[in-house]
Amino acid sequence: MLVWEEDLKPAEKAPANVANPAPSPAANAGPTATVFPSSIGTGNAAATAAASLTPNAPAFGPAATPAAPARRVNAADKRIINGQTDVNQLVPFKYKWAWEKYLATCANHWMPQEVNMSRDIALWKDPNGLSEDERRIIKRNLGFFVTADSLAANNIVLGTYRHITAPECRQFLLRQAFEEAIHTHAYQYIVESLGLDESEIFNAYNEVKSIRDKDEFLIPFIGAIMDPHFNTGTPENDQTLLKSLIVFACLMEGLFFYVGFTQILAMGRQNKMTGAAEQYQYILRDESMHCNFGIDLINQLKLENPHLWTPEFKAEIKALFLKAVDLEYAYAEDTMPRGVLGMNASMFKGYLRYIANRRATQIGLEELFPGEENPFPWMSEMIDLKKERNFFETRVIEYQSGGALSWD
Ligand SMILES: [Fe+2]
Ligand SMILES: [Fe+2]
Repeated sequence: MLVWEEDLKPAEKAPANVANPAPSPAANAGPTATVFPSSIGTGNAAATAAASLTPNAPAFGPAATPAAPARRVNAADKRIINGQTDVNQLVPFKYKWAWEKYLATCANHWMPQEVNMSRDIALWKDPNGLSEDERRIIKRNLGFFVTADSLAANNIVLGTYRHITAPECRQFLLRQAFEEAIHTHAYQYIVESLGLDESEIFNAYNEVKSIRDKDEFLIPFIGAIMDPHFNTGTPENDQTLLKSLIVFACLMEGLFFYVGFTQILAMGRQNKMTGAAEQYQYILRDESMHCNFGIDLINQLKLENPHLWTPEFKAEIKALFLKAVDLEYAYAEDTMPRGVLGMNASMFKGYLRYIANRRATQIGLEELFPGEENPFPWMSEMIDLKKERNFFETRVIEYQSGGALSWD
């Protein structure tokens, strides 16, 4: 039986009080360079990620002279960032929530090829199978997601990972990075199954404005923490990392995915593109876990570093939330120029505001749009599923097998 030295549940704790406010970065500080997607994964950033196990802690174990044996790790000494304990020693555990989420994500393992795509293929190839508006939604959707999850993976592997000094959290990030690879695989598998123009879909993030605008919002936050000269350890740099974590957990995984998810899942509820919808359902489950882990990480980082949570910093984060809601709403309008599937773009304005409120309160900010209600309560049911059921063509009777699916 595992004995936890400390059982912290940061998401359940009150927001950290502002103490010893540190100077906030200037409004245009933080991301210092725009790195375009084509450059991610090449050059200096990759080299930097490989060169350092942690930014501030010794690369291999605690600092020790050859004559003095290294001290054993005390869980109480662990820190989310700027820790000095050995990152190679997973135990003794301190952050039980991170380890539990790691175990939960492993239990949810799935692979794209396990999902039957034959009905989707027949429907897509039938000239009368789908309306032009429905086809537009599918192509735009894949156009965003085929590169979005690669961005997410690169952000973890080349950015976030080396700055996090808690091995339990690194363990989750390793699993998360693999899941992002599975998601990219899933989107590619749908593109290939339907016989879509791969060049059109994979270039959408360069060529479709509503998608490009979302990616250009995100990329500077990846670039900032991938910069080989960037290390945590000053209030300003720690705020840069915290901001990047918030942008990715709350605004990318927690907001930018939701118009697309809702559209494809709504299609599945109408018995259309049921294989794609099933894949999205599994991805949504994974992303909910990523988002919740990210929020726990943010709240724990805040608890350990309350001086970062200044009024100026909070104002900056609020402005980013508002910008993200605008960008995602523009994407909703672009993908749904007319009402389709019983939905229209204006319904998404309320939905995005509702989600933004939830994300804001989860990290200790006030609601940005008080009183917004959820126009798609069925989405919450899908996210809250404990044991997965397939709502569409076939029914998964047992998913938490760690391996193959069983179908009836
Ligand atoms: Fe993903
Ligand atoms: Fe994710």
